[in-house]
Amino acid sequence: MTTTACAHPNIALVKYWGKAPGPGNVPAAPSLSITLDTLVTRTSVAFAATDTFELDGHTVADSKLAACLADLRTEHDVPPLSIRSSNNFPTAAGLASSASGFAALVTAINAHCALGMDDTRRSIFARRASGSAARSIFGGFVGLAGPEWSAAPVLDAASWPLRVVVAVTAAGRKSVASSAGMRLSMASPYYPAWVSSTHDDFDTGLALVGARDFTALAELAEHSCLKMHGLMLATRPGLLYWNAATLACLHRIRELRAEGLPVFFTVDAGPQVKAVCLPEAASAVATALAELPGVIQILEAGLGEGARVEQP
Ligand code: PMV
Repeated sequence: MTTTACAHPNIALVKYWGKAPGPGNVPAAPSLSITLDTLVTRTSVAFAATDTFELDGHTVADSKLAACLADLRTEHDVPPLSIRSSNNFPTAAGLASSASGFAALVTAINAHCALGMDDTRRSIFARRASGSAARSIFGGFVGLAGPEWSAAPVLDAASWPLRVVVAVTAAGRKSVASSAGMRLSMASPYYPAWVSSTHDDFDTGLALVGARDFTALAELAEHSCLKMHGLMLATRPGLLYWNAATLACLHRIRELRAEGLPVFFTVDAGPQVKAVCLPEAASAVATALAELPGVIQILEAGLGEGARVEQP
């Protein structure tokens, strides 16, 4: 018997970068995200003699996955499992595959082993494995904040159906994994200002989503993104996740907005650019980004649902 769950990546509009001191992989500041629909991780679990993990058809040893299983086993009876996971998008290249991956994993194990966890508990276990994974438990607009540091829904997808055009500018794995990068950034002289201002950005973001104020959300989200990359650059050694095509996309998106298209950019710990837009702008944005040298693929998504079990 196999249980399959699926989950989508999420893209932060108010970014998370840096951890609170102490155990539990607690973020240093809150974050606000949107969950996508067409990009998906599908994870199947079955009982087995020993734990095994297959990602996109290849057997892999994954220390973060092993740590997530060990964490679940501190509170629950989880027998050895055969786990098979696949993504329909590039893995570990700044497209949040760890977010959808751990959200799908915890959801599949919860159902298969009848652990009885609600969304909040699953979000906490997913967060301990990968901070942003807490948010992929939920759909639409999602906040991740204290004191519990479980994610929680802010606004459902249908209430403000934004679109996201992803410009893929490089394949392959990113140069510095986010947890290692965050540890380095915490020694940056910019770090205290980043943490304190992100608390304010989160409160502003919640209000702007509630008011469906696209223009002000565009300004806030680009600010949070560029501020995070400013911190990354001001880290030792400097974390430079962008390539030439990344930068070309950012300039083009600003030109499109100046021409009147409702669109803004955000970039995570990788070179891909996510252009968030109102639905009527999506096809013009996709066409404009596809024309840029160095853009190798365009993906499109709307806002999607949270992690869920798939019926066989
Ligand atoms: O959850 P992690 O460790 O993959 O970190 C995610 C960090 C960013 O994607 C850069 C920002 C965010 O809030 O998702």
